[in-house]
Amino acid sequence: MDRPERVRHFTKVSDLSVEEIRKILKRAFKLKERPHADRSLTGRTVALIFSKPSTRTRVSFSVCVYQLGGMALYLSEQELQMRSSESLEDTARVLSRFVDAIVIRTFAQSDVDELAAHATVPVINALTDERHPCQALSDIFTFEERFPDSKGRTITYMGDGNNVAVSLAAAGALSGIDVCLGIPEEYDLAPALWEEIQGLAAAHGTRVWVERDPERAVETASAVYTDVWTSMGQERDQGKLQALQPYQVNRGLMSVAPWEAIVMHCLPAHRGEEITDEIMDGPQSVVFDQAENRVHVQKALLTFLLGGD
Ligand code: CP
Ligand code: NVA
Repeated sequence: MDRPERVRHFTKVSDLSVEEIRKILKRAFKLKERPHADRSLTGRTVALIFSKPSTRTRVSFSVCVYQLGGMALYLSEQELQMRSSESLEDTARVLSRFVDAIVIRTFAQSDVDELAAHATVPVINALTDERHPCQALSDIFTFEERFPDSKGRTITYMGDGNNVAVSLAAAGALSGIDVCLGIPEEYDLAPALWEEIQGLAAAHGTRVWVERDPERAVETASAVYTDVWTSMGQERDQGKLQALQPYQVNRGLMSVAPWEAIVMHCLPAHRGEEITDEIMDGPQSVVFDQAENRVHVQKALLTFLLGGD
């Protein structure tokens, strides 16, 4: 595989065009059918830098790189010189001399952006406080797996306006899927991110809107999506848990949603908080398909970013 002329990063969903997302998801469908068919990362190395815990993202990226013939290097931030005695810029420049791509999970989105600004290999955002684009790309795949006629359908996200909500809304906007955000007022998306999402939706003829009433939010949903109410790095706040209680994905709420609606969760789940056991383990749930699909989609993403096509 030749290195592309222009380095492509994936720091946020909209780093990809609509056509590129289509190409990656199509490739992911093929890779899901034949997981060992592509060995285009043979002899190549991918650094995985994690400053927060991870099960799915860390393991799926390790598996992705291995199945593609390459080697993943897991680096916890504590074991790097990064930030403690070396700048992000120098870290980016040094790692670019060793590895073929850098996957990073950290707190500030600006750190990922800075790394990308100085790296000469692709930088992939594996979650920040602001965004979770790999999850969102993969979630569109899972949604389309269930609903090949996805255009014009609605995914309703129930919870706080967190990283997962932001990237899901962006990915929906770029994929012809409407996104309803069932969010209480106090936990709306940050204004700048809301503006960005509205801009994407307007540019692509899709709708992203907020519905405060939980039942109205799910009435027309083809998927009801939720995430933990307390994200990594946040203080657990009793007031927030109470405000979000009416947005719990449970049997009562799902009885209002269309019969064919699926239930999505990026995981890890706090069972009994944002989702009940019977719904998470019930027939509408696709949450473990979502987890598996991280592998297929990230393989397609890696081959796209590293191969340049
Ligand atoms: N969904 C997700 O990113 O899970 P991890 O935090 O386990 O990586
Ligand atoms: N919003 C969650 C997602 C975990 C995958 C968090 O940031 O902790």
